[in-house]
Amino acid sequence: MKAALEQIRQDALAALQAATTEAEVEQLRVRYLGRKGSLTEIVRTLRDASPEERPALGAAINEAKREVEARLAEVGGRLAGESLARSLAEDRIDVTQPGRQRPRGHVHPLRAIEDEIVDIFTGMGFRVAEGPEIEDDFHNFEALNIPHDHPARDSHDTLFVEGGGEGLLRTHTSPVQVRVMRASRPPLRVIAPGTVFRRDDLDPTHSPMFQQIEGFMVDEQVTFADLKGVLSHFLRRFFGAETGVRFRPSFFPFTEPSAEVDIACPCTRGGTADPACRVCKGGAWLEILGCGMMHPAVLRAGGLDPDAVQGFAFGAGIDRLALLRYGLDDLRLLYDNDVRFLSQF
Ligand code: PHE
Repeated sequence: MKAALEQIRQDALAALQAATTEAEVEQLRVRYLGRKGSLTEIVRTLRDASPEERPALGAAINEAKREVEARLAEVGGRLAGESLARSLAEDRIDVTQPGRQRPRGHVHPLRAIEDEIVDIFTGMGFRVAEGPEIEDDFHNFEALNIPHDHPARDSHDTLFVEGGGEGLLRTHTSPVQVRVMRASRPPLRVIAPGTVFRRDDLDPTHSPMFQQIEGFMVDEQVTFADLKGVLSHFLRRFFGAETGVRFRPSFFPFTEPSAEVDIACPCTRGGTADPACRVCKGGAWLEILGCGMMHPAVLRAGGLDPDAVQGFAFGAGIDRLALLRYGLDDLRLLYDNDVRFLSQF
């Protein structure tokens, strides 16, 4: 038995000598000192030894256990220290490295212009309303005093929804006038930005999809002077206090009288227009929006009595305003979603 003990002791010390990981050391601890470990089991064989031998054998077993325990602690400690040093070296963080920046998006230039316009009008007591992009004939045309045989329908180049019965893509934001009047009572001061559609090919000045902003006011005794005041204020806030504004007689089926509004081209600042100007081509005036006093037939279609209340309305192209503001000459830039272009704003 003494020989067996000596064998176990030597095996244990040799195995520990060869161990290279903390896991191996733990395995060896279980193998020799665990509940079923060889140094634990050998204690049971003491029973078989003679009473004279027993004390010396017991002492030898305890001595072997202590030795193996001490070596386990020593080797385990050394390996733990080594692995800590290794992970410290490998995981070292270089705090002087520049950080990695996530790319940040921002508001699209068209949306920024829309927000700016909406801000100016909400400052005058207008509220924002929206309508559906898929409209019906009634709201887009009929209620706006454009009956089926009216020549104005041709100029709208309507896109119809396939299989949609009466469904069409709204050609302007004016149907929102009708929807709001039928849903609420005057006094009304409403601004309605949104996407509109016409059957146009894409070129620098046309797009089958573009943005309009509709505005209207309905109350007792609203006059053309209110229209002029509100729109002049808007245009001077948007383009600058010195901007020349001109109201020019025009025609829309849903307004009477009607006007188109021009602003003086920036090139006229010195007095007369620059004949080589890229924006107005020497014409000095830039058409910005259409407007007028709401036609009695439109008020009636909205459920109102034209003898009791009057209203004015206007519609402007947001894309046009954006191009002018940013000095661009191609509408398509606003819809291409080219990040190289967009990130300049
Ligand atoms: N809806 C007209 C258009 O799209 C613009 C407009 C709106 C004109 C309101 C007068 C009043 O051309």
